[in-house]
Amino acid sequence: MTATCGTIAVCPGSFDPVTLGHLDVVERAVALFAGVIVGVGRNSTKNYLFTFEERLELTTQAMRHFPTVTVLPIDGLLTSFCAAQGATAIVKGLRFSADFEYELQMAQLNTALSGIETVLLPGSRLYGTISSTMLREVALNGGDIAQFVTPEVDAAVKAKMGRQ
Ligand code: PNS
Repeated sequence: MTATCGTIAVCPGSFDPVTLGHLDVVERAVALFAGVIVGVGRNSTKNYLFTFEERLELTTQAMRHFPTVTVLPIDGLLTSFCAAQGATAIVKGLRFSADFEYELQMAQLNTALSGIETVLLPGSRLYGTISSTMLREVALNGGDIAQFVTPEVDAAVKAKMGRQ
């Protein structure tokens, strides 16, 4: 049994769509923290495949195997969401060096805005290089992403592409 600290952590993301890599990070966060909230947010610089409501629904469905995890929408700033939820840590997965620059910037910005700390978990051997962006690209070009996502997400992506 792993000892957890008393901290509530938020695992935020766009989840466009949620992948097995996200599930892996959330599962590992559950082992480390007293409580884990998954926050589905918006990055105004991104063009999403799925609507906010669809991303929220698919992420909620994918997280159902973690009974202690709550999935909530982030309306507005992530730091305000964390404060409202009583969360004092943000957890994100770190896959490769390109992630590091983006995550470092966000972590420092979020600390400057509210004092909250970010914990970066290294991508695991199995799912370490999966990205929603690449999976969308594969799917848009007719490829099969079933091995990287839950069956529900696979079906939702196929439906988006008009391939039932
Ligand atoms: O999966 P992503 O795209 O890295 O997730 C980014 C997300 C949604 C966590 C981030 O854009 C976010 O926190 N959005 C809420 C608005 C906010 O607080 N922006 C300032 C931090 S960059």
